[in-house]
Amino acid sequence: MNDKKIIVALDIGTTKVCTTIGYHDKAGLEIIGVGSHPSHGLKKGAVVNIDKTVKSIHCSIEDAKLMAGIEDVHAATVGIAGNHIYCFNSSGVVAVKGKEITDADVERVLEAAKAVLIPSDREVLHVIPQEFRVDSTAGVKNPIGMCGSRLEAHVHIVTGKTPLIQNIIKCVEAAGIQPNDIILQPIASSRSVLSPEEKELGVVLIDIGGGTTDIAVWKDGSLIHSQIIPVGGNHFTNDLAVALKIPHNEAERIKINHGSVLADNLNQSAHITVHGLNGSKPREVKLGKIAQVLGARAEELFEIIRKQIEEKNLGGMITGGYILTGGGALIRDLSDLGEYLLEKPVKVGYPLAFGGMTTVMQDPKFATVLGLLLESKTDNMGKEVTKTTKQKNSQYEEVDLLGKFSDSLRNVFKEIF
Ligand SMILES: Nc1ncnc2c1ncn2[C@@H]1O[C@H](COP(=O)(O)OP(=O)(O)OP(=O)(O)O)[C@@H](O)[C@H]1O
Ligand SMILES: [Mg+2]
Repeated sequence: MNDKKIIVALDIGTTKVCTTIGYHDKAGLEIIGVGSHPSHGLKKGAVVNIDKTVKSIHCSIEDAKLMAGIEDVHAATVGIAGNHIYCFNSSGVVAVKGKEITDADVERVLEAAKAVLIPSDREVLHVIPQEFRVDSTAGVKNPIGMCGSRLEAHVHIVTGKTPLIQNIIKCVEAAGIQPNDIILQPIASSRSVLSPEEKELGVVLIDIGGGTTDIAVWKDGSLIHSQIIPVGGNHFTNDLAVALKIPHNEAERIKINHGSVLADNLNQSAHITVHGLNGSKPREVKLGKIAQVLGARAEELFEIIRKQIEEKNLGGMITGGYILTGGGALIRDLSDLGEYLLEKPVKVGYPLAFGGMTTVMQDPKFATVLGLLLESKTDNMGKEVTKTTKQKNSQYEEVDLLGKFSDSLRNVFKEIF
């Protein structure tokens, strides 16, 4: 195993902490270990209990190591979400120094684009180039080598609250892992679920997790908007628990096994048996009632998303519609309801195929961790850190978000103000 460049990804979610271990070989990405452990230390994507979070991270890493047959992992690419995340678009302009645009010019224009005032308790997680303009030519993806005198950059900037980012880092380090990179979760999920064609056409990725719903809007191959909404699958479960007066774990079971968000699609008179609180007698509940409760929450979530898209004036750009992923995307009939409410195509997005463990991992709840793995550099097992290589499936081959630039530029894009 030591001659392989091991990569490790860590998705610290509200309901589960998931570790994947893999490596890149000539054929592409091969997954060799997965560990998923219930998460008890997070609320709405943010750490609220360090000890519990560290324990979950530790357990998930141990399980993944055991499956992979690896004794030690040292570093990982880590996901981040939470409603402290704030993203916005920015731009900058510089005069080109020589005849042709160089790395240094791009570096300067990105510096100019990120020179915006952000509150002192925030830091920048990503500066992602959307497009460059060289003189009057717009839509340039890589300006290096082009001739021109004026270079403009449009970028998407992702910021988070420093203490909350530090809490994630602290937990990862306390579990004995060095965070190589911190990546916004919907960017990671987009990486594993969306094809380059979809990103080009214009789509909204909606990752419905346990505590948050993470949005990433793509157009012309670039990320144009991202947002974390503090509503997730757990809210559906809680609604059901309250409405039916049943314990949370019973509500979760019912949601997964019998839940739907469209009462019209069900046999309205069908009943199921539910077990109440404190050993109270089991009773019969109509499937239609369950769908009403879940449907109301789904409507509210889609309404928040619709408003977001409207406020940002993105409606006309998302020709490809909406792609739902994350564990919460599996609630029955969610895409049908979404299509009705959002008036665009809506489908459930599954992670694309990789080598090794494909059948287990092709579940929307693993979208983030797989995307993180695709974005990962190698673990520091005494070897050089290398860039992400391409995916196996040539249909979905692409360089990583920053892959077309030099290492120094990658650092500029990713560095913290
Ligand atoms: N088959 C299913 N049907 C309905 N809901 C499901 C199903 N499987 C999982 N879920 C729901 O998905 C949610 C968990 O999704 P996921 O694992 O993506 O979240 P997470 O990454 O832990 O959380 P977050 O991203 O919000 O921090 C839970 O609310 C769970 O009830
Ligand atoms: Mg998640």
